[in-house]
Order: sequence, then C-alpha cells, then structure tokens
Amino acid sequence: MLPTIVVLPILYTICSASLFIKRQHSADFTAIEDSDYHHCPNALEIENIKKDEFLDLEFLDGLCKNVAGVIRMRVSGNFYGVAEALFNKLPRLEEFQGNDMTNLTELNLATWNLRQIDFSRNNIEKVTIEFMDELVYLNLSRNKLSDENIVMTSMRPSLSLKLRTLDLSYNALTRIDTLYPFWNLRKFILNDNRIAFIKPGILQKYPNLVTLNLARNKLYDLPIGMFTGLIHLVNLDLSHNRLNDTKIRIINSLRSLEFLDMIGNNIKDFNYDDLDHHLEVLRINDNHIYIHGKKVDLSTKEAQKQKMVLLQWYHHNTFNYHEKYL
Ligand SMILES: *[C@@H]1O[C@H](CO)[C@@H](O)[C@H](O)[C@H]1NC(C)=O
Ligand SMILES: *[C@@H]1O[C@H](CO)[C@@H](O)[C@H](O)[C@H]1NC(C)=O
Ligand SMILES: *[C@@H]1O[C@H](CO)[C@@H](O)[C@H](O)[C@H]1NC(C)=O
Repeated sequence: MLPTIVVLPILYTICSASLFIKRQHSADFTAIEDSDYHHCPNALEIENIKKDEFLDLEFLDGLCKNVAGVIRMRVSGNFYGVAEALFNKLPRLEEFQGNDMTNLTELNLATWNLRQIDFSRNNIEKVTIEFMDELVYLNLSRNKLSDENIVMTSMRPSLSLKLRTLDLSYNALTRIDTLYPFWNLRKFILNDNRIAFIKPGILQKYPNLVTLNLARNKLYDLPIGMFTGLIHLVNLDLSHNRLNDTKIRIINSLRSLEFLDMIGNNIKDFNYDDLDHHLEVLRINDNHIYIHGKKVDLSTKEAQKQKMVLLQWYHHNTFNYHEKYL
C-alpha cells in the first residue's frame, strides 16, 4: 500500500524515502510534509525539525484534525519531552515509536491501551512507567538508563500484565533486582549492559521466559538457583561475559533449553559429557561448538554447512548476530 502524503505545516518534514523501505511494516505510515490542515491519517509519521518541542496533545492538534483517531504514530527529531498523560488522550493508539530524539532525556508515562511502545535510540536517562494490561512490547534499547532510574509500577496484578517483550539492551544497568515482575514476559533482552551478578530468586519473577539475552555484560558467576523454575527457557545467551569453567553444569536444570551461547568467556576446560543435557546448539568457545551433540570443526569444509545451520538458528532467535561471530 502506498502512503498518501497528507499536506501539513512546512516544518514537519517527511523522512527520507529510505526510511520507508527499511522496515516492511512501515510502508503505510503517512508522513507530514507541507502546509495545510487535514484529517490525521491512521498511521502518522512526524519528524520535528523545529527547535525543541514538547510532544503533547496541543502539538499534535496543531498538525492535523482529529488526532484522537490515530492508530499508529512514529515520531523523531527535536523533542525534549513527552506529555505524561498523552497516551491517555489517544484512545485508538496501538503502536508508538519515538526514536532518535537527542534531547529526550526523561520519560514519565502510563501505557493505557497501547500494545507496542518503542522508545529506543534516544538519550533517556530516567523513565517512570505505569503499566496497564494491554502492552505487549516495550523497547528502551540504546538509551542511558541506570539501575535507580528505571521506575516501573502497576496497579494491576502481575499476572494480568501482557508484556511479552522487554528490550533494555545497550543501557547502563548493573543489576536487575529492581525491575518489575512481568509474569507473562517471554523475551528479556539485556545484552550490552554492565550486569555483574543476578541473585537467585530474581529471574523467578519471569517464570515464562523463552529467550534471555545477557550477552556482553560482566557476569562472573552463575550462582546455584539462579535459573531455578525457568522451565520454558529455550534460548540463553551468556556470551562475552567473565564466566569460567566451574559453573556450566547449572544449566542442567533448564530442561527446555535448546540454545546456549557462552563464547567469549573464560572457559578453558570443557567436557561435553559432564553436561546432562541435550542442546540443539551449544557454543562454549572456538574449540567447543556442538550441534545436536556433535562437535563442529569450523576448519573443515563441512563447517560451511554447519555455519548455515548456526546462522539460521541465530536468525530465528533474533539475537542480532553477524557472521563475524561464527
Ligand atoms: C537540543 O536542545 C538544545 C537546547 O535547547 C538545542 O540547542 C539543540 O538544537 C537540540 N538538539 C537537538 C538535536 O534537538
Ligand atoms: C529495539 O530497538 C532496537 C533499536 O531500534 C532494535 O535494533 C531492536 O531490534 C529492538 N528490539 C526488539 C526486541 O524488537
Ligand atoms: C571462577 O569464578 C569464581 C567466581 O568469580 C571464582 O570464585 C573461582 O575461583 C573461579 N575459578 C577458576 C578456576 O578460575
């Protein structure tokens, strides 16, 4: 479907065409381009190039008529803040994306009826979020969040919150003790932080996890009990931490685990038979990579085929790997 370009105030320019091509699902966003005042499209895209603006209802009302009918919204540019009750006033909004806002350093909001919120790639140092039931996807990747500056609350019981995906990668977290317990969370993305230790009992707040990505943190230990109860966990990425040989067997308790990556740690001694586990893919270090329990020798011709298997696996599990890691 081709976007119909709504003609609106001159300062709100359309993003470059390449942006529309990058993501398939974005083709139906309507960018705001010129100088007129029309009905808002269902999917509205705004790139603000004016001096710092505050994203609130007045601002949106100045762009197009009946903004309350917008279903999806994508925003970028010179915004320094988002009105706390904004989403409350947009009853049909299901998806909000706000990226590349250099001056957005603080967020304070409630999720209302939104299903997807993406505030990745800003400079957010502090967030206060009140969760309502409907939200399934929250992306706060690539911001500047530290432990004490993530405040999550909800008046709703943890069981009724539908959040499935929480991405906090590329921030400055050192622990996850204070994060909200999301009972229904499936995908917890925490790579590229500074997490050194996760106390037993903490991950049990997310009993339905399927994917846990802790790559490129500072984990030096896997305490006994850390993974207890994660009976649905399929993908575990512990690569590029500071783990040593001694604790690998802790994964024996993860009976659904199919994929484990521990490459880039400090593991020297490894004996597959010490594990009482049958994983699909296991990467310990360059010399110990296994697919269905069979050791893969990456120096042979056969390796090319194996590489494909691994790549497909990574693709499936959206770990964002590049071939250079293999
Ligand atoms: C950020 O805010 C400062 C001060 O208001 C302003 O001068 C600057 O242009 C803004 N930068 C961006 C990228 O929005
Ligand atoms: C979160 O946003 C980042 C940056 O925009 C993106 O690369 C990543 O894939 C998103 N995470 C998820 C789980 O969709
Ligand atoms: C492995 O790491 C633990 C925790 O840091 C440490 O106590 C232990 O001495 C290390 N063992 C080896 C063999 O380096």
